[in-house]
Amino acid sequence: MKYKIAVIPGDGIGPEVIREGVKVLRAVEETQPNLGFDFVEFPYGAEHYLKTGELISEEGLDELSKMDAIYLGALGDPRVKTGILEQGILLKLRFYFDQFINLRPVKLYPEVPCPLRGKGPEDIDFYVVRENTEDFYVALGGRAKGRTREQLEVLRSLYSAKFGLDIEVDKDEVAYQIGVISRKGAERVIRYAFELAKRKGKDLVSSVDKANVLSHSYGLWREVFEEVAKDYPDIRTEFLFVDAITMWFVKSPEWYQVVVTPNMFGDIITDLGAMIQGGLGMAPGGNINPEGVSMFEPIHGSAPKYAGKNRANPIAAILAGQMMLEHLGEGEAAMRIERAVVKVLTEWKVRTPDIGGKSTTSEVGDAVANAVREIEAPE
Ligand code: IPM
Ligand code: MN
Repeated sequence: MKYKIAVIPGDGIGPEVIREGVKVLRAVEETQPNLGFDFVEFPYGAEHYLKTGELISEEGLDELSKMDAIYLGALGDPRVKTGILEQGILLKLRFYFDQFINLRPVKLYPEVPCPLRGKGPEDIDFYVVRENTEDFYVALGGRAKGRTREQLEVLRSLYSAKFGLDIEVDKDEVAYQIGVISRKGAERVIRYAFELAKRKGKDLVSSVDKANVLSHSYGLWREVFEEVAKDYPDIRTEFLFVDAITMWFVKSPEWYQVVVTPNMFGDIITDLGAMIQGGLGMAPGGNINPEGVSMFEPIHGSAPKYAGKNRANPIAAILAGQMMLEHLGEGEAAMRIERAVVKVLTEWKVRTPDIGGKSTTSEVGDAVANAVREIEAPE
């Protein structure tokens, strides 16, 4: 199969880690006669925005919709006000392509330093399925400063009627942001989590919320979870509050198999998840729409401090490439990348400083690409 892959290197360390990811995918291509990639590069990111004022154009979105998948580096740049690139490009793509699943495996590979005492690869191997298009990410909100008196009066009646807040029009400043959970939105991602558990031979799905406080939106989430769970009688379930799960990820990560969570909590707990799998340099993610264009990226940001230094760990980006292949149905090729990463890690010859080595970004990419070529075809 020949795949058209959009490459968006983006900002900061994005280009250098994605370069290694592409290098590894090229090596995979050599080993699989029936597999090929057409990489099409897109310029979106800080540089393009500063030069042209454009975040992502309609034509760009149109071009991207013709691709089989998107391979993304990172977005964010100190020269641009925080949020502009993240919302205007990253979140834009997630929403535009309705990538409602953000799949983030939390897997500790052998010989990767783990900050948890006494825990090893056999203890840390689970999936976080993060809802990716709702919750506090819907951008519904506002601020009551700088409005006309009439607008403020409207807001005031809204606040007092809906939120029980009595604001004084002339004095008070109020900001609000609304989180939205829809039945349909919760249903589809929760069902995906159960299906994933089935596919991966896992028998526990844990749901994360804060239904004790934010009972409107997460109350609905719970209700839907209970309904969907009925269709999977062989899979055990549990509810956890988000604060508690951060504690349990540290204390007993071995308990978890598949964790399904609303968007915002998923964002937070997957940074914690990344730390227990050896750091952000080890954590890939997939923004998935099973029927549309999906996008794969390392979950780390653009780390401007390290940009251009050839010292960032490219393994998260390389593993995002592996997830992309698995998503495209190229299981054997995907497995080859994972094995190559494990080989390089266990040999302890080539690794970046974040996981205890002295190698550069490109040396790690070269080593994984070579390992991809050397590995015997899986049985
Ligand atoms: C992530 C990031 C993004 C998010 C930001 C950059 C918008 O933190 O992918 O986890 O909040 O989803
Ligand atoms: Mn995040």
